Amino acid sequence: MRLAVIPGDGIGPEVINEALKVLGEVARDVETVEYDLGAARWHSTGELLPETVLTEIKQHDAILLGAVGDPSVPSGILERGLLLRLRFELDHHVNLRPARLYPGVRGPLSGNAEIDMVVVREGTEGPYVGTGGLLRKDTPHEIATEVSQNTAFGIERVVRDAFARAQRRPRKHLTLVHKTNVLTYAGALWSRIVEEVSLEYPEVSVAYQHIDSTTIHMVTDPGRYDVIVTDNLFGDILTDLAAAVTGGIGLAASGNLDASRTNPSMFEPVHGSAPDIAGQGIADPTAAVLSVALLLDHLGHGDSARRIEAAVAFDLATRDHSATGNTSSIGDRLAALVSSRE
Ligand code: NAI
Ligand code: MG
Repeated sequence: MRLAVIPGDGIGPEVINEALKVLGEVARDVETVEYDLGAARWHSTGELLPETVLTEIKQHDAILLGAVGDPSVPSGILERGLLLRLRFELDHHVNLRPARLYPGVRGPLSGNAEIDMVVVREGTEGPYVGTGGLLRKDTPHEIATEVSQNTAFGIERVVRDAFARAQRRPRKHLTLVHKTNVLTYAGALWSRIVEEVSLEYPEVSVAYQHIDSTTIHMVTDPGRYDVIVTDNLFGDILTDLAAAVTGGIGLAASGNLDASRTNPSMFEPVHGSAPDIAGQGIADPTAAVLSVALLLDHLGHGDSARRIEAAVAFDLATRDHSATGNTSSIGDRLAALVSSRE
């Protein structure tokens, strides 16, 4: 397994260190190459993602990313120049974000329901593509446009991925989330494609929900969701909410997938570089460890992925959640649990 590792900034390297520790327990033949992309490199060389680095990264089976970002870098530079660029260049059209409430973890909701969902968010279209511009800038008549792109090709490939996932899960349920009553052009296209693809998956039950009412049900009745498929913007917002109701940002993992497997997919915790706690050794590495499980799953090592998830479940069920965590001791504990489950 050839892995490109981008530890990044802040707590990124701290959590990646633990994630690699756990990976080492399930996969003995991992070859890693580290890339120092992020705020530090941008400050010292002005580089974000040099072509040569991108070409090299493409030669790997997968990418593991910590987090990039620092308050010293103006907003948008790393997001557009590095993170979004990687997603677009590597055609990461499926943004996969599972949200599961593990036993022992107390979410913010009263009477915690059983929550086990996966959000399949479109990753290369919608309003995030940079189609737009400014007219009459710095005048009272300034105009800003930000156009949401929705192609039949782009929608169909994520919808297919979502149906295939729903088919593999026990509940076999899929919810399309959109705002078809107001965004009628894009909404009609999403709805039509979901309907067409559903004919090939007669066992998967399909529901539709508007994004606004989804935010209500995500709080009042999150247990109803199994697989959610949605566009880039709605998915971005919804997955933060899903992470919040399942115990927070320290546990949320994600994958940016090229489902065609032409390019390496990238796995990362949902959280950022957390400059407020960087260097203190208290960041929770669990999200990074669960991202490794997603990575293994994607590369066909489902058994190893299940071992890691089981170790995390055991750790969370028995962890003292009132105490401040210690990054390396959580990593050590997870590594030991994984190795004892061999
Ligand atoms: P953040 O996720 O870094 O932090 C939000 C809050 O959650 C902070 O209080 C932090 O201490 C806490 N937190 C985050 N991860 C944690 C962990 N593993 N364990 C314990 N506590 C944790 O989001 P924020 O503060 O908005 O962004 C900080 C920087 O990270 C910014 O530069 C932002 O652009 C960048 N960022 C990068 C991402 C990426 O690389 N994919 C994603 C999100 C933000
Ligand atoms: Mg986000």
